[in-house]
Order: sequence, then C-alpha cells, then structure tokens
Amino acid sequence: MITIENIKEKLSNVSYPGFTKSIVDFGFVKDIAVDGQKAMIYVEITSSAEEVEKELRENITKELNILGISEVDVTIKKPQAPKQMSNSMSGNNMTPQVKNFVMVSSGKGGVGKSTTSVNLAIALAMQGKKVGLLDADIYGPNIPRMMGLEHNEPEIVGNKIMPYKAYGVEVMSMGSLVEEGKALVWRGAMIQKAIQQLLRDILWSELDVLVIDMPPGTGDAQLTLAQSVPVAAGINVTTPQHVALDDSRRSLEMFSKLHIPIAGIVENMSGFVCPKCGEESDIFGSGTCDDLAKEYNTKVLANIPIEPSIRVGGDDGKPVVYFYPDSKTGKKYLQAAQQLWENIEQSHSEGKIGNSEIQPNLPAGVSACSAEGQAYQKEQAAKKEAEKSGCCGGGHCN
Ligand SMILES: Nc1ncnc2c1ncn2[C@@H]1O[C@H](COP(=O)(O)OP(=O)(O)O)[C@@H](O)[C@H]1O
Ligand SMILES: [Mg+2]
Repeated sequence: MITIENIKEKLSNVSYPGFTKSIVDFGFVKDIAVDGQKAMIYVEITSSAEEVEKELRENITKELNILGISEVDVTIKKPQAPKQMSNSMSGNNMTPQVKNFVMVSSGKGGVGKSTTSVNLAIALAMQGKKVGLLDADIYGPNIPRMMGLEHNEPEIVGNKIMPYKAYGVEVMSMGSLVEEGKALVWRGAMIQKAIQQLLRDILWSELDVLVIDMPPGTGDAQLTLAQSVPVAAGINVTTPQHVALDDSRRSLEMFSKLHIPIAGIVENMSGFVCPKCGEESDIFGSGTCDDLAKEYNTKVLANIPIEPSIRVGGDDGKPVVYFYPDSKTGKKYLQAAQQLWENIEQSHSEGKIGNSEIQPNLPAGVSACSAEGQAYQKEQAAKKEAEKSGCCGGGHCN
C-alpha cells in the first residue's frame, strides 16, 4: 500500500525550479491525500510564473508515476501574476541586460542593510524573478559570508567576471575582487571607477532585478550608481531608535535628490521576541518608522524583529527566508519583496524611472565630489544662469 510518507519521499526529489532545494524542504507541499492508485497533492508556491507551475506539475507527476500512482491530481496555488512591465526607463544604463536596479541604503552601518539585501534578493528569486545581488559595500563587503560563498574564487572569462550562484541568485561582491581593507582609503574617482567596473565587467545574465547593497551613508558610491544606471527603487534600512532615524532621513533625502523612487523603509531589529518565554520587548523601540515613511510619501515594507535565527543565518550563510520561508520573519521578507515589486511596476507605469536629470556634467576623470568637480559644476551653473539673462557669463556685467 502506498502511504503519504512514500509520496512525501518522492516529492523530496522534486526541486523548486531555479533552486536545488526541493518543494518539501521549502515547505511548499501543504496537503497530500492517497487512495489506492490515486493521489491528490496540494502545493503553494511563491512564484506566479507559468513555466514554474508547468515544470512542477510534470515533475510531481513523473515522480509519483514511478511509485505506481496512475492518477495524480496536482493543485498549485500561486500568487497573482504581475502586470507586464513596459520599459519606461530613461537615461544612462551601463548594464542594459538588467531591467531593474534596486538600491539598498542605510544612514549608517550595522543596521541590517546586508541582511535585508540578501533576504529580499532570495525572496524575489523565490517569487520567480531572475535576480542578481551586487555587494557594492566597498568598506564592509559581507554578502559572500551571508550567502555561504566566503571561500569562492571568482571565475574570469576573457576580461569579465562570472557571478557566483547561490540560493537561486547571481552574486558578486567587491570583497571577492579587492584585497581586504584596500578599499577603505578610496575616495572620489577611485570609488566611481570601482562601482562602474562592478556594473560593466560582471557577466550578469538577463536579470529582472539587481539588488545592490550599498556602503552606508550618502556619498560617491550612491551618486555614481545613480548616474550609471536608472535606479528603479530605493530601500532604506534602519533600526527604530530616534537617533538612527535622523541618519535614515538623510538617506531618504538622497533618494529624492537622485530622482530615485522610494519603495519603502525596512524597520530592522524592531522589537525582540524572547525565544524562551515568548515575551516581546522593544529593545530599540518599534513602529517609529511610520511617521518617517509618511513624511517621504512611502511605506514601511516590513518590521523585522531581532531574532537569533537571523544573526545565525547571516554568520553561517543560511538566509532565513530560504531556510524558513514559512516562519513569521520569512513571510515578512516575502511580503516585502512582493511590495517592492509592485512599487517598481507602479514607477514604470508612472514613468518615474530614469537618470537623465542627474547626468554628470563634468570632464572625464573628475569626480563630482572633488573640489575640482564642484568648482566646475558651479562655473557651469553660473554660465547657464548668465545665458538665461543674456549676459556674457564673465562676471563683469553686474
Ligand atoms: N533582525 C535581526 N535580528 C538579529 N540579528 C540581526 C538582525 N538584522 C541583522 N542582524 C545581525 O546584525 C549584524 C549587522 O547586520 P548587517 O546586515 O551586516 O548590517 P549592515 O549591512 O547594515 O552593516 C549581522 O551580524 C546580522 O546578522
Ligand atoms: Mg553590510
């Protein structure tokens, strides 16, 4: 007699398309019933893509046929399909095979920017998107450790670099390319060059989205990225203390200045649930980001509590959303990823994505943030003003 256990064992051979992990291990198999030669399987998946459903249906049926089940009734529940995006981006795009760029920023380090980038990237991949994750944090690149790729050597093809692949996501990090500590002393033009190389010299596939973990703060890296590719969405990660919110405000202000649509805020380390007694305590506070979100006409995408499994997942290269997609936190990341995607679609439909407004008007090799660059920009602005007023721009006509 065929049992539910026998079926479960067979379903453990069915991997979720794009991943090496099975649908059983992901916790996607929600119900199994068996009656003689007939079986009913109920699966809930995180992707709305037709191909994913089709592949799963075929593979589930194939596995159960091996078991001697002739009639397999597979029900697959999936999220609503997103609308087809029109490509409405304008301006420079150094990495044209990537459809959408997401900038993950924070006012300062240690608030969970990399943790958020990792979990959102994997969540998007679990939702059927083709995803890349770029660790552009030149000062503290720790994505390789968080993605379990710490000891990997990059593969060079011609004069380009192949991204790694982990948890269904293409990954590359500044940390894998530059000797540890070297980038710490970089300024202006060096940072600009490094960011542009990460965009140009990595062999990303055709991606729906590239999630970019930025260095903390607002500086040359952010400006260079925004001028090199049209950023579709900015996400700010912050902890809920009021002092952290002040830094966060600067990040949000930067998005506005760089014409980056703000997709939302991730309030991280928002409360602590004691794993022993279950009591909740607000170590850093919680819910304080709501007002900030309102101020910038955006929303809080998720409140992620302080949770030992997140820290352990980061240290061991085992991201929470991949290993515990059914946990409260796993679900929060999945939901945040969905909201992020909806926001990107909306920005496309409103024609809000583009970087033509912030193109550099500097001679080649001069950083916008250097004294030379700023003087040049001032001079150009004065000339423009002068042109408007009919003056020669020489500064003698007052
Ligand atoms: N919600 C959380 N609960 C527990 N630990 C967390 C949480 N978010 C981040 N961490 C841990 O805090 C540290 C800093 O997070 P990280 O993502 O590296 O921050 P950042 O990239 O902003 O510097 C890491 O060790 C990470 O595992
Ligand atoms: Mg980091």
